[in-house]
Amino acid sequence: MNTLSYNQDSLAVVGMQWGDEGKGKVVDLLASEFDAIVRYNGGANAGHSVVVNGKRFALHLVPSGVLREGCDSIIANGVVVDPEQLLREIDGLTAEGVDCSRVLVSSRAHVVMPYHKAEDAARERALADSLGSKAVGTTGRGIGPAYAEKVQRASAVRIGDLLIPDLLRERVRAALAFKRPMLERWAPDATYALDEESLIEIALGWGDKLKNRVIDSTIQLHDHLEQGRKLLFEGANATLLDVDHGTYPFVTSSSASALGIAPGSGVPASVVGRIIGIAKAYQTRVGAGPMPTELTDATGDQIRERGREFGTTTGRPRRIGWLDLVALRYSARINGVTEIALTLLDVLSGFDELKVCTAYEIGGERTIDFDPAAASLDAVRPVYESLPGFDEEITGARSFGDLPSEARAYIDRVQSFVGVPISIVGVGPDREQTILVEHEAGVGSIG
Ligand code: IMP
Repeated sequence: MNTLSYNQDSLAVVGMQWGDEGKGKVVDLLASEFDAIVRYNGGANAGHSVVVNGKRFALHLVPSGVLREGCDSIIANGVVVDPEQLLREIDGLTAEGVDCSRVLVSSRAHVVMPYHKAEDAARERALADSLGSKAVGTTGRGIGPAYAEKVQRASAVRIGDLLIPDLLRERVRAALAFKRPMLERWAPDATYALDEESLIEIALGWGDKLKNRVIDSTIQLHDHLEQGRKLLFEGANATLLDVDHGTYPFVTSSSASALGIAPGSGVPASVVGRIIGIAKAYQTRVGAGPMPTELTDATGDQIRERGREFGTTTGRPRRIGWLDLVALRYSARINGVTEIALTLLDVLSGFDELKVCTAYEIGGERTIDFDPAAASLDAVRPVYESLPGFDEEITGARSFGDLPSEARAYIDRVQSFVGVPISIVGVGPDREQTILVEHEAGVGSIG
């Protein structure tokens, strides 16, 4: 009997906080060692920028490895794809001479239809304005409604359906039967999203443009593995936004931790031997929801300005906080993180003191356990440890030894608390502004 014997050389890169940790840069840094970069969750709610010929592109769906020649960029089954957005990104990159011929999309990935975007906006508006409830603060990209449609099954459109007109019509008609009364009530302006004929025409046009990129990504990924090739799984959004393990209900609608890799790609988790968790040296969040270490003062403003913390997808100013080690330890556990890339450390220079949250106080008791339910987190008081700050700009540091002793102590404190080595430190946006940390004597004894 044959037994599968894939090696475990594949890698996952996942966000450990509420997103925007700088995953794109780390993926880009490592992509050349891999044969395929795989998106397995989320949709156009994710965002990272790449610079081509001096022009900055905000990419939302095309995997970050697209700039590396010879690498497959695979959008696997767990992603919800807005074809219009995907085609726009491919066209923009192609016009700048980037080879997009290996951007491939699973026939089983779900399609974000115009009515999903209309519903996303309508629900948010209704929650905040009419229902006296808190909106989630979504990116408005139709993510939640598209995943809901997927789980509801018969009315969902998958990428492969864009190539089968009869099936497509059946699905869209079923979806509209439910969407029409709802959107007429909550989004009376969204008539464009309810016109069956024009929706079919648009969707068939997408199918025509995408048809040469549509594959069975599960087969493709297993073929790669069988040939001994290595995959890099690029997590979108982040662990604290994971629909099961994040700060529910203020989360996204997919498995945004490493736990989503298997269902989102059809590849068993056991092939992923290395999981790099990306964490900012401080905390940010876009949208609503609990954030125990949030800073609403001048320190927060200073970090926001230094870190240019405005959303790639929506342009919204991000909420800022001190690094929450309680949350980070939780994320490390959920993902099985084998190493951490600590990004944007350069943003923290210029402060007399740096704080990290090392416990939560709740009802007079201290805990280091993280209960992600939003209602529980709202009730916690962060307990801080104060560390000395550093004044020097560190954007030119290229080795651990180049960093001021206070910055090294900060890194050391993070890894000793979380119990996972920090192998990469980001000190600026460019690929070269990266320190690779050698670990010879284990956690807590770098440098
Ligand atoms: P949705 O994913 O658009 O439904 O938004 C749900 C929540 O997740 C909102 O608070 C968004 O701001 C947040 N979110 C989703 N994707 C990202 C991301 O890639 N970075 C940061 N926040 C995100």
